[in-house]
Amino acid sequence: MERRKFIKTGCSFCLLGAAGMLLPMLESCGTVQKTAVFKTEAKNNKIDVPLSLFETGKIHFVRAKGQMYDIAVQQHEDKTYSAILMRCTHMDNQLTASGNGYRCSLHGSEFDSEGNVKKGPAEQALKKYTVTVEKENLVITL
Ligand code: FES
Repeated sequence: MERRKFIKTGCSFCLLGAAGMLLPMLESCGTVQKTAVFKTEAKNNKIDVPLSLFETGKIHFVRAKGQMYDIAVQQHEDKTYSAILMRCTHMDNQLTASGNGYRCSLHGSEFDSEGNVKKGPAEQALKKYTVTVEKENLVITL
């Protein structure tokens, strides 16, 4: 019993240590994007996102309560914004951010940052939403 507990505890520390060492390596190669999902609610088919959110980064992921997929909201160089649904157009899998675009883990489709297909099997571009700036908010129309 003592030996089992010792091995179990030792393995836990080894895994934590390995994860701690690997994470900075992954971040430095640009494959991991540390962006928390901004959780909010949709009202009248619109989602408000505070513009102040973009003081901490050019791209954020938004999830409205009751929605199945995140929306990638991006601030461009000219201070315009775009909102792209993170739903793969092949078979509706949630996408993840990958390098300069989005990737589907189910069958490997890849999309650029504008939602255009870079690699199939998906054939259609990602869904884009209309985005407007109203006072201190970005308003995404679903
Ligand atoms: S569901 Fe995304 S590639 Fe098939």
